[in-house]
Amino acid sequence: MTNDNKSSSRVFLVTGATGAIGKAISRQLAQEPDHEVVLIGRDESRTRQAVQDIIRDTGNQSVRHEIADLSRQADILALADWWQGPLHVLINNAAVTPRTRQETPEGIELQFATNVLAYFWLTKAFSNILSKSTPARVLFVASYWAGDLDIGDLEFRRRQYNNNRAYRQSKQADRMLAAAFAERLKSLGISVNACHPGDVNSKLSRNLGFGGHETPDEGADTPVWLATDTVGQQKTGKYFENRQEVDDRFTHDRPALEALYKACAAYTSDR
Ligand SMILES: NC(=O)c1ccc[n+]([C@@H]2O[C@H](COP(=O)([O-])OP(=O)(O)OC[C@H]3O[C@@H](n4cnc5c(N)ncnc54)[C@H](OP(=O)(O)O)[C@@H]3O)[C@@H](O)[C@H]2O)c1
Repeated sequence: MTNDNKSSSRVFLVTGATGAIGKAISRQLAQEPDHEVVLIGRDESRTRQAVQDIIRDTGNQSVRHEIADLSRQADILALADWWQGPLHVLINNAAVTPRTRQETPEGIELQFATNVLAYFWLTKAFSNILSKSTPARVLFVASYWAGDLDIGDLEFRRRQYNNNRAYRQSKQADRMLAAAFAERLKSLGISVNACHPGDVNSKLSRNLGFGGHETPDEGADTPVWLATDTVGQQKTGKYFENRQEVDDRFTHDRPALEALYKACAAYTSDR
């Protein structure tokens, strides 16, 4: 990993950076010359292409990439071990919506692994690094399309798998985990917030049967605002839509947040 950080620059890590919203987030962040943006993808050539497109569009040479399959904790631990230099903002954005139930090589249902556990694993793996760059932030790109969480059946082993239902569950979990992490990371100077990006035509939304009426740049607007505006530092454990804080009923039940956190921790090896 190269590391030519300027002392005043801010470093952003964006997952799902080859996707519709993640690439737009990365590009908007790179428009500031003192921003360093690290795109995480799982396909080397497409991720490198995204970096080249963004450098061409913005002129910012401090854009680079790393490769990781985020559905696998080992890849996330390797990424964090490999990381050099500071990190100021972690943007958890990658997600999938397969139409049939799939599992990772470790036997974990794929939406739960990618959309939920990866956010959990990344936040845990990078919290030490973030804590050296405080104030620092973590953003969970979630959705208003959320609900049906069953902590007793996170992997759809008992219930019939349906990609819409599994997706809604995963995005409810993201909103709850952001609130759970906010409590834990507050004392380290790290804020953790969640947001709905926008309704954007993408592989993910097409799999769910939605078209999406907003552009990727519109979808990136609230995430980028939370990643850069002082609001995203001052607030923690909150949920936002269209740059507005929205009361999130999913975060009211503290025991449920703790139960979900504990359930995710059970999938997590310390090393
Ligand atoms: N689109 C919408 O209308 C909408 C609405 C509400 C919320 N959101 C949220 O916005 C976020 C981005 O969605 P999007 O619409 O931009 O989706 P997208 O275009 O399908 O992009 C998804 C991204 O996640 C990456 N990814 C998936 N599995 C991965 C894995 N195992 N390891 C590493 N990367 C992986 C994909 O990589 P590949 O390119 O290699 O597949 C891609 O870069 C998601 O969190 C989604 O829930 C989207």
